[in-house]
Amino acid sequence: MEKLTVHASTSYDIIIDRNILSDSGNMIKSVTKANKAVIVTDDIVNSLYADTVYNSLVSAGFSAEKFVFPNGESSKCSETLNKLYGFLTDCEITRSDCLVALGGGVVGDLTGYAAATYLRGIDYIQIPTTLLAQVDSSVGGKTAIDIPEGKNLVGAFKQPKLVICDVDTLSTLKPETFADGMGEVIKYAMITSGSLFEKLMNSDINDILDDVIYECIGIKRDIVENDEFDTGERMLLNFGHTLGHAIEKLYNYTGITHGSAVAVGMCMITEMSENLGITEAGTLDRLKKCVEKYSLPTECKFSADELKKHCVNDKKRSGKTINLVICTKTGASTIKRVDIEKFCNGEM
Ligand code: GLY
Repeated sequence: MEKLTVHASTSYDIIIDRNILSDSGNMIKSVTKANKAVIVTDDIVNSLYADTVYNSLVSAGFSAEKFVFPNGESSKCSETLNKLYGFLTDCEITRSDCLVALGGGVVGDLTGYAAATYLRGIDYIQIPTTLLAQVDSSVGGKTAIDIPEGKNLVGAFKQPKLVICDVDTLSTLKPETFADGMGEVIKYAMITSGSLFEKLMNSDINDILDDVIYECIGIKRDIVENDEFDTGERMLLNFGHTLGHAIEKLYNYTGITHGSAVAVGMCMITEMSENLGITEAGTLDRLKKCVEKYSLPTECKFSADELKKHCVNDKKRSGKTINLVICTKTGASTIKRVDIEKFCNGEM
């Protein structure tokens, strides 16, 4: 078992191990005084893992309930949230009870936001079951729902009480869902760790998966501890995301995963910065090889110019500048505040 502790506005542990869902009730018992625990999950994860977690909660002495909603990004909305609030009031969940987010990023974000807002805040525990959720979204306390105007536009910072990463749950992921998470793994390597990058290039991921998850969460933990509320260093986690978000939006959030869009975004921004001499020569080539190794795309049907124009015209963007995350070489990065018109003209 590996354990990392996050010291943010509240402190909490992240447990990384295998075959631990059956002990999740005891782990949760050790961090909360709650009597009732509500598992929030989607229909796919419900059929795979909810019984194990439910039985473990009951064995640990909780009165357990379960709220299940249809899988997919379209469920991360106010309708599902309102149904969840209604379920919590029907179950007479009080401020001293807790929620258990069992699933991927959609489940974690929605449950976290419900925990941040129901009765002005109750405890929640993250049990992430996708690679993306284990290395990124379950850690750091960003919670949100989508609204018709855009993704994650309504949210709150709310740190979980505990994160339980059972690496065995990744064995049931579809290959493209695993690759989705690898987009974020490659991002961590590019922004902070040349040695992680080398490991990704030179190993079979199945042989190093537990170590890689531990290392990625460690990188995220360090960044979140320095900048919990995303006003500085945490922006480094957005490497590849400025153009990546534009790609996702232009695809109407269908037909391309977040990790694929981020992979293309990382390649495009690195091509620009390497051409301008800001990034060490050869970095783009190395990045592309890694992205391809993990079955992610290096380009999409939109050109960099089209995507940059989308960034300029984005109605949600305020001001004349944009914060770009640039890798100066593999494993090192910086945030550059750039005039948006300059960015469009290929300058930085
Ligand atoms: N997923 C980026 C962040 O947590 O800041």
